[in-house]
Amino acid sequence: MAGPVALVINGRRVAARAGQTLLDAALAGGQVIPHDCATGQCDTCRVRVHAGTVDDAGTRLGDTVLACRARLAAGTEPETVIEFDEVPDTVRRRGSIESVVALTPDIVEVTVALRKRLVYLPGQYVRVTFAGLPPRDYSPTLRADGSGELNELIFQIRRQDGGAVSPHLGRRIGAGHAVTIEGPFGHAFHRLGRGRLVVVSSGVGWAPAWAVARASRLREPQRDLVVVAGGRHPHNLYMRPALDWLRDRGASAILTCSGEAPPADARPGRPTLHLPMLTAADTVLAAGAPGMVAAVQFLAAVAGATCHADPFHPAGRSTDADDVPDTNFIRRFLQRLSGNRSTQADSPAE
Ligand code: FES
Repeated sequence: MAGPVALVINGRRVAARAGQTLLDAALAGGQVIPHDCATGQCDTCRVRVHAGTVDDAGTRLGDTVLACRARLAAGTEPETVIEFDEVPDTVRRRGSIESVVALTPDIVEVTVALRKRLVYLPGQYVRVTFAGLPPRDYSPTLRADGSGELNELIFQIRRQDGGAVSPHLGRRIGAGHAVTIEGPFGHAFHRLGRGRLVVVSSGVGWAPAWAVARASRLREPQRDLVVVAGGRHPHNLYMRPALDWLRDRGASAILTCSGEAPPADARPGRPTLHLPMLTAADTVLAAGAPGMVAAVQFLAAVAGATCHADPFHPAGRSTDADDVPDTNFIRRFLQRLSGNRSTQADSPAE
């Protein structure tokens, strides 16, 4: 049936008909739901359904569906109510490097001063072009003490052996170097919510993870927050002060180390080995090595949790260079099947 249906999008009512996709109905009504592929592949158009009857076309995760696939259906409720996150417009900004500071032997913190502020949501990323070099995607974050000015963008970047950009940071690329920024992009950003928030990162995936975790503590201090942050090499566990800040404010913060000789304050193994058992009420954000992120996505999907992913692919993103397959998700999956809720590691993961 293709009769009229009342559709409310982010509080605004549009005329729609049963059988239309949510995306088509929104666009016809002058509402632009963020979208990209329009074929159900990219997950950009995911919206929350608060009321009404929707044929989810197999795309439902929790209370969300893909707007490009899900269709309005005639039902008993008077209106269909959906919601999506409105994100800042993508813009271009110019600026220059203010400082390059070595956080570890492998990771530098680059501060860029912009001529005009760029608005982004914690967890989003931007495209950075250091003059004369190819563009790279990095996530703005905060210093370990939480500081950062409105016209600054702070990046934590791993120097990649043989990379076209990162080896030059602090050498050929230093203070005063011209920078162009385009963005923001990405949907793995902080959203207010009621259920537990679980933030997982490996390597310099800590940059967006820290931005999201800190935003959650400041904006919704009563919300349960679990943060699991790891690195391969003990000398790259630069996130300790930030984890302490989170612990001091009631979050559960776990440091992991998957390399040899993990330090006493870090649990051995990858972050996936130390995730809490997920539930459908959780929202999970994973950032870092693609193998780790894929494993977290799998565990979240099994639990029915909402998951936002930010995999750092080589070249486009600065990675931790340890993206070997993460098989811990199999162990955690078997724990789920057997009802074992332990989050403690009893042996190194790799
Ligand atoms: S626009 Fe890509 S999944 Fe809907």
